[in-house]
Amino acid sequence: MINQYEFKSIIQRVSLSPTAHNTQPFRWGLNNNIIKMTIDSKRKLPIADPSDHDLWISAGCIGLGLKIELNDRGLKVSDIKIEEDGITYVVSEESELNHEMRDLSASVEKRYCHRDIYKKKTSFDKNDLSVLDSKNSSFIKDSKVIKKIAKAHDKSTYFFLKKEEYFKELCMWLRLRQKSENYHWDGINLCSMGFNFLEKFFAKYVMSPKVFSFLKMISLGEVITAEASKVATSSGLMAIHIDTEASNLEAGEVFYKKWLEMTALGYTGSPLSTLIDHPKYNKKCREWFNIPSNHKLINILKVGPTDLLNQPKRCRLPIEKIIED
Ligand SMILES: Cc1cc2nc3c(=O)[nH]c(=O)nc-3n(C[C@H](O)[C@H](O)[C@H](O)COP(=O)(O)O)c2cc1C
Repeated sequence: MINQYEFKSIIQRVSLSPTAHNTQPFRWGLNNNIIKMTIDSKRKLPIADPSDHDLWISAGCIGLGLKIELNDRGLKVSDIKIEEDGITYVVSEESELNHEMRDLSASVEKRYCHRDIYKKKTSFDKNDLSVLDSKNSSFIKDSKVIKKIAKAHDKSTYFFLKKEEYFKELCMWLRLRQKSENYHWDGINLCSMGFNFLEKFFAKYVMSPKVFSFLKMISLGEVITAEASKVATSSGLMAIHIDTEASNLEAGEVFYKKWLEMTALGYTGSPLSTLIDHPKYNKKCREWFNIPSNHKLINILKVGPTDLLNQPKRCRLPIEKIIED
């Protein structure tokens, strides 16, 4: 049904789905109509994600990515088996095109993680708001509240960054030297960090565990990692949430879907995960965004207009490294 050539082009686009720290831990194999995804455990985040929560959210994102690609080709996932080391997808033919998926497909390449400031503000029309503020999302556009949440994000981020092991693990996924082989492959590189010229220059000195320990000691750690002024340039913040009973896999699908939907409207963003990971700030966000009591927060995305001129190159592993024979 799917030949190897087509499989490669499917997986190439599926791999554009977001993964936490851009670790891209998923490997792919094809056997007739069965697609097997396995998790490369060396690419897990044992310190930042000890319970594999973000790993399965990321798996949900690529799951939706796969469904979108199959739909484009008149195929669908007809069965799914979740195992400890990955997921088996049974693929079958589908005579009816799913139009919602087709619309999402148009945004797969355009979507990206925008960590820079937003150079322009935008006002949202009715159509935008019906996407940004919906059953699975709550939206804030009051600039005072955005500033307050941006500051809270700095606090929650520093709570994690000041832990030595957390910082060391993060550094393993930062690509600070443009000459390194994997600069455009995985992790988060200087071009996608949204840094200005000076920040880019100093990043390779500051983002090292030894220097950061010193900065912490002289109480400069929080100041140096603060990004509230960047977050505050957002035109809005979208909290994405789902029924408490939903699995992380389902939550990941909703997270990616909302990100693609806002891309289709001409917006871009990036997640503010530490707000969700920190119990105190998670609780505060529930109040600020007025999250229904039977829903859990998946993430919060900052929202602003897409800046095509400054869009960083998407960093992905070469296809040969993610497809298994
Ligand atoms: C579960 C999850 C959590 C994420 N959390 C953050 C985050 O806190 N901050 C951030 O800048 N990006 C975050 N990201 C975005 C990824 O780092 C990003 O998608 C990845 O680097 C690939 O880049 P791209 O989205 O531009 O393709 C997260 C992504 C996922 C799937």
